[in-house]
Amino acid sequence: QWTIASIVEDQIAAIRAQIGDGRAICGLSGGVDSAVAAALVQRAIGDRLTCVFVDHGLLRAGERAQVERDFVSATGVKLVTVDARERFLNALAGVTDPEQKRKIIGREFIRVFEQAELDLKATGDYRFLVQGTLYPDVVESGGGTGAANIKSHHNVGGLPEDLEFELVEPLRELFKDEVRRVGLELGLPETIVHRQPFPGPGLGIRIIGEVTEQNLTILRAADAIAREELTAAALDRDIWQCPVVLLADVRSVGVQGDGRTYGHPVVLRPVSSEDAMTADWTRLPYDVLERISTRITNEVAEVNRVVLDVTSKPPGTIEWE
Ligand code: XMP
Repeated sequence: QWTIASIVEDQIAAIRAQIGDGRAICGLSGGVDSAVAAALVQRAIGDRLTCVFVDHGLLRAGERAQVERDFVSATGVKLVTVDARERFLNALAGVTDPEQKRKIIGREFIRVFEQAELDLKATGDYRFLVQGTLYPDVVESGGGTGAANIKSHHNVGGLPEDLEFELVEPLRELFKDEVRRVGLELGLPETIVHRQPFPGPGLGIRIIGEVTEQNLTILRAADAIAREELTAAALDRDIWQCPVVLLADVRSVGVQGDGRTYGHPVVLRPVSSEDAMTADWTRLPYDVLERISTRITNEVAEVNRVVLDVTSKPPGTIEWE
């Protein structure tokens, strides 16, 4: 009988057997998989695990705090945050092509993470690297054809050749719903366990145009409002995710009070999906759409228009870049 409690127990025993008295590093993305993998390893080896969280400056409002405060207080894990915001902004300056953005973000991410690994290795016997690989990832990377390769996902196939770590992958045999149950069993907060998917390149691929500090600030504000209203309407579990996209390269004329405005549109992209390979646009209630639109145009000065993406996948992808 495979209960969640027994999966947890078995994994903890397996991790202890693999790592022995060594030390392990785990990169946290803010997502559920790396969080659950880290929590399991923390249970097994305590503070011989160090988690690394890279703030690339492309995070949504409150995400860094969710890792630094909520995850740490739930697990007691040892955490190093690397503030690489400036580095990413510099590397992205002037870049508008989606694939180029993805490549730059992926490359910089690996560099920053490898430096963090080197720094840690200098302080102790860190021989193990924890990854939140799930069963479907294992299957997919065996195949790796078709839709999965339409956009270069920066967390797949990004490992350096001369990897000097032994991998610890405690979720290799689990599906997403099992991972969530393991997370709850380990006492992780609902906000982490039921977090919707968010792409590794973050807000960088939700700005159509250049990724600047100012564009990030605008998008972060609009996105936070959309998420607040969807949560308030208890719709989080009904939608797969709802990217908010800033059309930084587009301006349109508006009117506010007595004045003409010439601002940017944001796009709401609510989707329903089983596995993100295909998706349908979610028929959100009009009153929720209205609240989101009114609040964004009132509260975010640079945005004077909110539009709704009603495209399924295919032909559209979920993200705009
Ligand atoms: P698309 O835009 O290809 O997205 O329909 C499918 C799902 O994958 C997420 N996504 C990513 N996740 N790294 C990730 O970890 C990435 O580079 C990436 N690109 C897209 C997207 O949010 C959606 O859930």
